[in-house]
Amino acid sequence: MTSLRDIRQQFLNFFEEQGHTVAASSPLVPNNDPTLLFTNAGMVQFKDYFTGGQTPPYPRAVTSQKCVRAGGKHNDLDNVGYTARHHTFFEMLGNFSFGDYFKENAIEHAWNLVTKDFGLDKDKLLVTVYHTDDEAFDLWKKIAGLSDERIIRIATSDNFWAMGDTGPCGPCSEIFYDHGSDIPGGPPGSPDEDGDRFIEIWNLVFMQFERSKDGTQTPLPKPSIDTGMGLERTAAILQGKHDNYDIDLFQNLIGASVELTGVKAEGEAKFSHRVIADHLRSCSFLMADGVTPSNEGRGYVLRRIMRRAMRHAHILGAKDPLMHRLVPSLISEMGDAYAELGRAKASFEATFEQEEERFRRTLGRGTALLEEATAELGDGDTLDGETAFKLYDTYGFPLDLTQDALRAKGIEVDKDGFDAAMAQQKEDSRAAGFKSGDVGTDDIWLAAREASGPTEFTGYEDLFVTSPVQTLVVEGEVANSASDTDVMFVTPATPFYAESGGQAGDKGVVSFENGAQIVVKDVVKKAGDLHVHIGSLTGEISRGDVAYLTVNSDNRKRTMANHSATHIMHEALRRILGEHVTQKGQMVDGERIRFDISHGSAITREELAKVEDQVNQVILQNAEASTELMNPEAAMAAGAMALFGEKYGDEVRVLSLGDPIDEDPKAYSVELCGGTHVDRTGDIALFKIVSEGAVAAGIRRVEAVTGEAARQHLETQAGYTRAAADKLKAKPEDVPARIEALIADRKKLEKELSETKKALALGGSGGSAAKAEEINGVKFMGGVLEGVSGKDLRAMLNDQLSAIGSGIVGFVAKDGAKVAVAVAVTDDLIGKYNAATLVNAGAEKVGGRGGGKPGMAQAGGSQPENADEALAAIKASI
Ligand code: ALA
Repeated sequence: MTSLRDIRQQFLNFFEEQGHTVAASSPLVPNNDPTLLFTNAGMVQFKDYFTGGQTPPYPRAVTSQKCVRAGGKHNDLDNVGYTARHHTFFEMLGNFSFGDYFKENAIEHAWNLVTKDFGLDKDKLLVTVYHTDDEAFDLWKKIAGLSDERIIRIATSDNFWAMGDTGPCGPCSEIFYDHGSDIPGGPPGSPDEDGDRFIEIWNLVFMQFERSKDGTQTPLPKPSIDTGMGLERTAAILQGKHDNYDIDLFQNLIGASVELTGVKAEGEAKFSHRVIADHLRSCSFLMADGVTPSNEGRGYVLRRIMRRAMRHAHILGAKDPLMHRLVPSLISEMGDAYAELGRAKASFEATFEQEEERFRRTLGRGTALLEEATAELGDGDTLDGETAFKLYDTYGFPLDLTQDALRAKGIEVDKDGFDAAMAQQKEDSRAAGFKSGDVGTDDIWLAAREASGPTEFTGYEDLFVTSPVQTLVVEGEVANSASDTDVMFVTPATPFYAESGGQAGDKGVVSFENGAQIVVKDVVKKAGDLHVHIGSLTGEISRGDVAYLTVNSDNRKRTMANHSATHIMHEALRRILGEHVTQKGQMVDGERIRFDISHGSAITREELAKVEDQVNQVILQNAEASTELMNPEAAMAAGAMALFGEKYGDEVRVLSLGDPIDEDPKAYSVELCGGTHVDRTGDIALFKIVSEGAVAAGIRRVEAVTGEAARQHLETQAGYTRAAADKLKAKPEDVPARIEALIADRKKLEKELSETKKALALGGSGGSAAKAEEINGVKFMGGVLEGVSGKDLRAMLNDQLSAIGSGIVGFVAKDGAKVAVAVAVTDDLIGKYNAATLVNAGAEKVGGRGGGKPGMAQAGGSQPENADEALAAIKASI
């Protein structure tokens, strides 16, 4: 059997031998034509050569071109899986002449390849020509020897090929293969031409015109040739199959999905497997060429194709995402001819998986809705457009997916109703100022801000407000409705503070009439002054629904206390450490304060204590906080501290906290701030610094807590003291004195222990006892000591020296892995004996060296096992 691979190669070889340059397939996203959704034919990459816009580098070319026909002028999506020959992705084999040869050669080449190289039976072939193209008619007769009835004149656009609404075009001639009378269908031009019996395999386009926007056709500079042969169709014929899906490539892909799903490709499941195999190809190739799934343009076509495949995977009972697991099979089939597949594999596999995981979240519920909505419907009925639109908008069911789902039941979708609902949404979105397209949410928020103005923040006074959902965003896209998903949304008014000025966004709950609820995890500012709530939705909501927004008041109160305490601490740090202290960063939320300042050295414990004292002093004033709105200049003149990097508007909020203390006549702290604050300093209750440290050169970070968190911190600390007191069986206030006494006791005991060890060593209970003897008429006192350290040796040496009167003292002391050698000589013998020489004689034996004076010397060594030898060596040297 000739494989698809072989056929592709045979085609390229044939035309290469005829003087054609083999060109690589161009990407699926045309880089030379913004009007074209996807590359849909082999000629796309050569468009400018035909129109004369560019000079071709060669007069003839041959390609095997990746094509996607899903959306745009050439759209095969709806038929995929249900006919024998439709694909969203296919390979088009083509030969091209750029003003070189024309009709005659084109027909000649085609006929030779098909009948000679491919060996197709001439009697199974028939051709079409454009009804006015006598030249082509005659050429077929002459070259192929076909009878008149096998050259069919077609008057429709079927035989006038155009790339798109604009661009190169011309009459064409198509070669058809007759699969035999047992397959229903008539020849081209007949009423039942749409059957599968006569299959077009090759289209020869005689490029002669360029079509402009207004429909007029201008002759091209030179007549040219563009042909397109469907590789999969041709493979089917050459492999003795009728159905494209029975060729080697598809059988292998279908085999993989059968294996992974455990469902045979029989009955209804056959269609599902086919759709999956087809869509696997188009989606993978599109992603390998840089298309990513989205809600607009090419990305949306990709998403639609993907979701159709994913629905079929779901139908087959796949419990987990399936598509990405089929990629290796695709690469083994096509990776050699299209290296980009292998290169992009990791990235598009991941996209497949994410998309499928995401779609599976709404697929089940959407399917349930669809079933409910069509329960009463049957063959020939129509599903209303509103429901189809809801499926699209809320559950991510593209229209064609819904159509595909209803196909088996013979139910149609009211497409006009769907379009109307879609148009209404577009209109609403436009009214709200949204741009459509692949935009990040920043663009969405900018548009929303432009359309509806800033968010009114009511949260200085109120923690509850009722306001409709104005802008709803799901997965980075504007949505009309949402259900059980993470959402971002904006309301005209909100009590939720949006993170800014170092104060975290509020948390809270937003409820709706229908019981839906959003738990708000964070609120951020976008487009300057839009408060964007971020949270997770339970239930279903739509744009315009009235939202009951309630800030979590406990969290807010703690945040306010922390924020106000930060202002007071800032002032205290300046007063205590100096005016050089400026704020370098701040983060306050409901848990704690983190405050960075410029300061060259560690803040001492005393300084920290002073800061704490002063902050708590201001808290205890319980002075009323005051906020004034003024212009920035007036605020600065009033001595307000302005912060770095903040953008202040025409009007600023000036916050004063605390009564004046010391000599300063103004309020304790005066600062510009848009944050939320306590009403009275006493609301902070308590302030406690929990840590201080360096974050960068010249920058210190102070962390602190207030209120209940401060109390708990102190309680924890007190717990440690209590535990210590319990261990000591003392009162907590006696703990320091008791610990001091314990430390003194320990020192005393350590000293006594060392004395005892020395005495023990000399007393002879460990090692060879120290004893006095006479060597060469000199009194020698010494021995090997166990468990005596080098540092204790000197004292022992001195003791023995005074006891001996005249003579030499020598010790070798072993202490674990260490050994020390020490020798002392009484003054009267110095000159005759040198302690340093004697020590080295011993040290040599224990792997050490030492030194000292003639009267006393010491050395360390590392071989305690040789201690006895060392002692013997000292004695031998006397
Ligand atoms: N461009 C022609 C086609 O796509 C060959 O059929």
